[in-house]
Amino acid sequence: MSVSTLPLEAGVSLRTLNTFGLPAVAAHLLRVKSEADLRRLVDDPAWGLAPKFILGGGSNVLFTRDVQALVVKVEVPGLRLLETRHDAWIVEAGAGESWHGLVQWTLEQGLPGLENLALIPGTVGAAPVQNIGAYGVELKDRFESLDAVDLVTGRTVTLDAAACRFGYRDSVFKQHLAGKSVITRVRFRLPRPWTPVLGYLDLERKRAETGISDPDARTFFEWVCAIRRAKLPDPAVIGNAGSFFKNPVVSAEQCRDIIDRDPEVVHYPLPDGSAKLAAGWLIDACGWKGKAVGGAAVYDKQALVLVNRGGATGGEVVTLARAIQESVYGRFGIRLEPEPVVV
Ligand code: EPU
Repeated sequence: MSVSTLPLEAGVSLRTLNTFGLPAVAAHLLRVKSEADLRRLVDDPAWGLAPKFILGGGSNVLFTRDVQALVVKVEVPGLRLLETRHDAWIVEAGAGESWHGLVQWTLEQGLPGLENLALIPGTVGAAPVQNIGAYGVELKDRFESLDAVDLVTGRTVTLDAAACRFGYRDSVFKQHLAGKSVITRVRFRLPRPWTPVLGYLDLERKRAETGISDPDARTFFEWVCAIRRAKLPDPAVIGNAGSFFKNPVVSAEQCRDIIDRDPEVVHYPLPDGSAKLAAGWLIDACGWKGKAVGGAAVYDKQALVLVNRGGATGGEVVTLARAIQESVYGRFGIRLEPEPVVV
């Protein structure tokens, strides 16, 4: 076998590299800090063609086994204001930066626009992969372009929003570019002048509670952080990967059917006549809050989140997830689709 000069690490525990805190070992792991590191990998005689698994902050992955593919841990740094246009600021961030760190940095620089997306775990590079979203804003609404390195040619390409094919918790990086391309830098378009995106029930409640009808970006950021902290477990304290299932989209007819049987069902009509249902509500209605399989459990404040109470294996999380899927299907006839990538 050809000799590699890459600074590979062997037998690396992934437990602290996934927010679920699940046990798994990477046979080999490579940390990449630049596009040049990725080109060296592509040109490497021993590893250039080997299967690869791209890891960011590990906030959207469920490890059920050790990983034989080469784990590429993206650690590209950098935060900068690239351009000030009359109608927007353009900010660039390295894929290895923490997402919440970016949100905080932009606010400190007086560049608001990402505050609805505060406290989402994970890295900047992972954010476009699943088009993260919260409280009425999705990444695609603040996106300018990104750079990615092709794992076959080693070339860096720039993709705009159309090329990324953003959908609800979806993009080209979950589809045909999965495992083929590594995001290294992301550019954001923050509209000027800043206007808050209100409208979401929990945010309107904060407005009423505090009596502040015209919040500034900093206040708004504090509201989003408070709402998330009240509902969602902090992965630093209790392992989890955020929402475990996507909110399912059903036809108008299917939605009416469910409303007839369960008038309380939380649903949001979509422009094409279909409706998105709150998966958390469906799971909650089936009585899952607090239920567990081994160390894996349904979070007691938000049924859409599965947590590691301590010592859970990926297999236990999968068993729990399947049982939830079966029970929701049995009662509502809806198949829930997991958000995290199962390895
Ligand atoms: N609900 C229940 N019981 C539950 C959970 C939710 O009845 O156990 C009801 C809530 O009362 C509410 C509705 O379901 O009426 C929706 O709940 P929530 O507002 O908490 O939002 P969600 O639909 O559960 C989505 C995203 C979150 C994002 C929030 C806020 C998905 C899969 N999840 O959750 O994203 O933070 O909206 O915008 O779209 C993530 O993707 O990891 C994530 C946390």
